[in-house]
Amino acid sequence: MTGKDNRKTFHIQTFGCQMNVRDSETLAGMLEELGFAESKNKREADVAVINTCSVRENADQKFFGTLGQLKKIKEERPDFVVAVCGCMMQQQHIVDTLKEKYPWVDLIFGTHNIHEFPRLLTNVISERKKIVDIWDNSEDIIEGLPSKREFPFKAYVNIMYGCNNFCTYCIVPYTRGRERSRRPEEIINEIRNLAASGVKEVMLLGQNVNSYGVGCDFNTDFADLIGQINEIEGIERIRFTTSHPKDLSDKLIEAFRTCEKLCPSIHLPVQSGSTAVLRRMNRKYTKEEYLDLVGKLKAAVPDIAITTDIIVGFPGETDEDFNDTLDLVERVRFDSAFTFLYSIRKGTPAEKYKDQVPEAVKHERFNRLVELQNKISAEINKACEGKVFPVLVEGPSKTNPKNYSGRTETGKLVHFRGSPDLIGQIVPVRITEGKTFALFGERVEE
Ligand code: SAH
Ligand code: SF4
Ligand code: F3S
Repeated sequence: MTGKDNRKTFHIQTFGCQMNVRDSETLAGMLEELGFAESKNKREADVAVINTCSVRENADQKFFGTLGQLKKIKEERPDFVVAVCGCMMQQQHIVDTLKEKYPWVDLIFGTHNIHEFPRLLTNVISERKKIVDIWDNSEDIIEGLPSKREFPFKAYVNIMYGCNNFCTYCIVPYTRGRERSRRPEEIINEIRNLAASGVKEVMLLGQNVNSYGVGCDFNTDFADLIGQINEIEGIERIRFTTSHPKDLSDKLIEAFRTCEKLCPSIHLPVQSGSTAVLRRMNRKYTKEEYLDLVGKLKAAVPDIAITTDIIVGFPGETDEDFNDTLDLVERVRFDSAFTFLYSIRKGTPAEKYKDQVPEAVKHERFNRLVELQNKISAEINKACEGKVFPVLVEGPSKTNPKNYSGRTETGKLVHFRGSPDLIGQIVPVRITEGKTFALFGERVEE
């Protein structure tokens, strides 16, 4: 099947974090260079790509559910090409299952050889053969790959890849390999080009951006990099994710004060409020150290928004440990938190931990935590009422088509009456109502 202009079409479905979203932009860019056009509907596409995540069990299940749907299309149209990639493919047991139970999948590749995708796909199509090509690791960073970005006014920019932290629950160091940083001049060049094409906001990506440049042959650390980006004309907002608390430097905290484009917000995953659990997670900080860090951030940047990730029911988590988490949440008062039920990941150290927490206990704790955090988020957002914030307008609201939505500097979602000409602009909006997950407001004429 072909698109309106007779080009063949592709559809990409992306699971997981911003790393995968960014990789999918690269895959889409490569497909366009090969002459494909994007299709919004995988039923009609000639090539379907699934970019997978393996961070929790339910991510794996979603992938296999999606594959089930694709099988039906494949049966109706044998020329339909199914390609799967991403973090799940870096695990041998997944690839074995695919080979055995899903032999109709045409192309399997991993996170380390994305740049090979055009060649692999061309071979699959021209030779009508199945290809499985997974690399165990990669030292190199391939620069200059094409991309098709979602928004013309804001962009994800990788600054580093991989992770060396080996938190005991986490699969990412196994699926994404060792930490490696892009050269500062490559990053700066990319952001200059983005700015020239109209991008106002960059989100710097890495599993642990605070260790940017560690062990590299250049002398730029993360705070220096932000300082350089702050100088780029056209860029108005700098954000980053994710920050590991153990590596957050005073120099970075200082950068919040000296770099006016650095948004006053930080995603600082705590994972647990119990020092004993943190130790077993291999997080390398205590509850008190985390609270101290938050104290320093709030002292330096009074209006900073702090968000976090929390895992509930890590092996061995007692009621007392969990109460420490609730206590920490109350003391920090996060703007919002992603809360997760601990999920066993094959090949991680915690898989072998004996004292797994019963499902019912995990769920009960999870609900209590969510309730507490929602109450805090609602209170913080309510306190925004009456204030005016600059909002970068993203487009029509997903929930109410009469509204437009955008983000404050602190990353909060704001809905307000707008118009299409505002998309990509930063406009002042007065908040009229602050709810748990979003703010509502009205535009203030400048
Ligand atoms: N590099 C980021 C996190 C990447 S994974 C960081 O270190 O902060 C995103 C989040 O998924 C983690 O912060 C953690 O809260 C959650 N997560 C990772 N592995 C998990 C598991 N096995 N079970 C439940 N949640 C998990
Ligand atoms: Fe996973 Fe920990 Fe690395 Fe984050 S820092 S990706 S949680 S191992
Ligand atoms: Fe998932 Fe891989 Fe990101 S496991 S969370 S897509 S790095």
